[in-house]
Amino acid sequence: MAEPAALPAEPGGPARPGGRPEVVLGVSGGIAAYKACELLRRFTESGHAVTVVPTAAALNFVGEATWSALSGRPVATEVWQSVHEVPHVRIGRHADLVVVAPATADLLARAAHGLADDLLTNTLLTARCPVVYAPAMHTEMWEHPATRENVAALRRRGALVIEPAVGRLTGADTGKGRLPEPEALFAFCRRVLARGPRAAEQDLAGRHVVISAGGTREPLDPVRYLGNRSSGKQGYALARTALARGARVTLVAANTELPDPAGAEVIRVGTAEELRRAVTGAARGADAVVMAAAVADFRPADRSGSKIKKRDDREPDPIGLVRNPDILAGLAAGRPDPGQLVVGFAAETDDVLANGRAKLARKGCDLLVVNQVGERLAFGTEENEAVILDARGPEIMVPHGPKEALADRVWDAVVARWDSAHPA
Ligand code: CTP
Repeated sequence: MAEPAALPAEPGGPARPGGRPEVVLGVSGGIAAYKACELLRRFTESGHAVTVVPTAAALNFVGEATWSALSGRPVATEVWQSVHEVPHVRIGRHADLVVVAPATADLLARAAHGLADDLLTNTLLTARCPVVYAPAMHTEMWEHPATRENVAALRRRGALVIEPAVGRLTGADTGKGRLPEPEALFAFCRRVLARGPRAAEQDLAGRHVVISAGGTREPLDPVRYLGNRSSGKQGYALARTALARGARVTLVAANTELPDPAGAEVIRVGTAEELRRAVTGAARGADAVVMAAAVADFRPADRSGSKIKKRDDREPDPIGLVRNPDILAGLAAGRPDPGQLVVGFAAETDDVLANGRAKLARKGCDLLVVNQVGERLAFGTEENEAVILDARGPEIMVPHGPKEALADRVWDAVVARWDSAHPA
């Protein structure tokens, strides 16, 4: 199984001895080329080395100087440039990942038919690494049988073709065909770098999974609350990876500011009680429930209907607290279907493993993902490391890496549990 990056400075990249992960960013001629600048920036800022290979048409939208300045490397479009370096073979051969964003209908057609009439299509023929296409075009072009067949041919040969997003297209029209946002594209690519060809597996197809994410807030009055520092990033990574592996996903999001994962049903909640109701409702009939949200254990006993005023003539009143229900323990104890898997997360600052094992037993869940939290650990960051504890004994160490990599390992553990319940 592919491990996450061995080098902390290179999240998501393969352990290339002595070097950074090599990414080729192919850009074809569509208006969404401007979004590829942001994707490029994300790659370079996170330690990836990027060679940009635009088509001649792409340069009508974003010029060579921009690609060269942002990548820190020269940019070529034709095989006739720098011929002595044989770039049409070298660039593809040395890549750890090729991503084409945006991929126009024309580029998909040329790639599907193995044409090699410019540097990008040559690179696509020589690449032996995973290749990702992020198509962007008008809905009619995306739906045309010619494009459908080209996409199917590329997928049959192992390429990863991302579904375009639905939304505003070039003009006033809207529909399917938008390039997904750079953040989502970057997360997808980082996952492919970490997981290799397994990134295409659809082993959650036909499964419904419910994931809670974020942190609950318990109001004191209309303007103040008791909350926590959870950003929701790990829960969203779980949702994105489950979607990528073919699952139907319900994401219960508590106070997050992250873009909705494309294809997930997102239910927004604020308090622990709202989260309990949403998760318990969605969990009926689900195959797995993953509680990645940080849930407040207590809430203020009284919630003031108006803003609590500062009084100069006396000290503040103490805040009385009452206990919130333990949602995870409730889900584990009251599963409608004994085959449903219940997964918890544990945030610990000390005695991480001992506390984790005790918590797994106390909560009665099947798997518990234990990670250490602190000032700069886990909360709000892009990366995580954890141990996945299984109530049946096994412990899986997941080294420091992108939150997507941990999410994949959690789903691997879930799939292993399902497989052991119904061996093939
Ligand atoms: N959890 C829950 N309901 C609560 C508190 C926590 O469902 N009222 C879930 C979290 O979503 C997580 C797991 O329980 O999956 C562990 O959360 P954590 O905060 O680590 O544990 P606590 O039970 O709050 O224990 P403690 O604060 O003592 O560490």
